[in-house]
Amino acid sequence: METTHTVHVGDARDLSEVADDAVELVVTSPPYPMVEMWDDPFTDLDPVIGEYLDAGKGEAAFEAMHTVLDAVWEELQRVLCPGGIACINVGDATRTLDGRFRVFPNHARIVEAFERRGFHPLPDVLWHKPTNSAAKFMGSGMLPPSAYVTLEHEYVLVFRNGERRSFEPGADRRYEAAYFWEERNRWFTDVWTDIRGRLQELPDDELRDRAGAFRSSTGSPTASRTFRRCPVVWSANGSRPTGSSSSAKSPTATRRITRPKTTTSPS
Ligand SMILES: C[S@@+](CC[C@H](N)C(=O)[O-])C[C@H]1O[C@@H](n2cnc3c(N)ncnc32)[C@H](O)[C@@H]1O
Repeated sequence: METTHTVHVGDARDLSEVADDAVELVVTSPPYPMVEMWDDPFTDLDPVIGEYLDAGKGEAAFEAMHTVLDAVWEELQRVLCPGGIACINVGDATRTLDGRFRVFPNHARIVEAFERRGFHPLPDVLWHKPTNSAAKFMGSGMLPPSAYVTLEHEYVLVFRNGERRSFEPGADRRYEAAYFWEERNRWFTDVWTDIRGRLQELPDDELRDRAGAFRSSTGSPTASRTFRRCPVVWSANGSRPTGSSSSAKSPTATRRITRPKTTTSPS
């Protein structure tokens, strides 16, 4: 497989180096609203968020953080071609503010944001990520009724930017990208359990604060494996995907993928 990569370093709310409709697939994972490690970066972008958190106004903080992300979704839609696919990895957050424990459903707010922009939600993936919460109790532990299930999954939300793209009948770039039968069976389950996480080995805590990244038990970065799977699953040959990763400066990357010819016909 031959790939070429172009890395643009910058703020995902301003992708001005990328032309309108230039991208066929976006794979990204934003900072997760209401997860404490992202409070400061969100507050840097909109100081009212810190004020809401200090005042225990969780719902207002949640909405203000998502308003920051809405600006990213706006740019994403500008660069994504009609019919292009967006894959958004995000987890929900649990938090106690002002004495009240609740879940903040990031995935639901993002689905709403994309639907509002005319994207079509497609079946999504539950990514089972048990290392996020290794067997810990939430709430009253063994005592009902305030024991809570533990969040052990994140989402890969999948959206299409409007109507389906059309291809010439028998288009090479599509047929050359066909999956093997075994790949189709393994990758198209909506529960991904085979990308397990463990804490990434990073040289210092400051870097971890910025990255929030996990590494798989095989040693390859977990998010990278997810980000590799998405292009293989959702792009045709010669696609121009874009995405963000957790390097210190949060680059966005575009890459062209050429895949080996297969004899399998897609159904
Ligand atoms: C949930 S993490 C995703 C990490 C990455 N998927 C991984 O595990 O390798 C969110 C990422 O967004 C980055 N980020 C924060 N603000 C950003 C911005 N304005 N533009 C682009 N990326 C940003 C952070 O640095 C962080 O790497």
